[in-house]
Amino acid sequence: MRVILASDHGGVNLRQEIANLLKESNIDFEDIGCDCEDSVDYPDYAIPAAERVASGEFDKGILICGTGIGMSISANKVKGIRAALVHDVFSAKATREHNNSNMITMGERVIGPGLAVEIVKTWLHTEFQAGRHENRINKISEYEEK
Ligand code: RB5
Repeated sequence: MRVILASDHGGVNLRQEIANLLKESNIDFEDIGCDCEDSVDYPDYAIPAAERVASGEFDKGILICGTGIGMSISANKVKGIRAALVHDVFSAKATREHNNSNMITMGERVIGPGLAVEIVKTWLHTEFQAGRHENRINKISEYEEK
């Protein structure tokens, strides 16, 4: 599994925690920044990361900003991306099982690192259930083709 990781200035500390988790778990990942002291614009990180997941270069992506919202809105503009804003473990599991989410977004100003690490572990290790959920995802893909 290859994972791409990014944040804006609002998510730098949480991104570091998640990078540590990925390293400790021997997961192959690329951290594309930001290397920012000053404020940056979240679409400048979300969209390139999402494009690299959509192209197949990475299997999954993890995006962090202050709230997770800007990252989610931006990433979901890229065709083929299902970026889920998640701040609890139940949703982390459900969004893999039901939505086959290929990106997760979180807000450093919303949750602490302990919860974020549990969310990411759950999300990375939960499989899509397909079945009736596949139809629903296909409807999103069909809309993207219009
Ligand atoms: C930056 O101040 C903040 O707006 C950003 O990190 C994010 O929360 C946007 O959705």
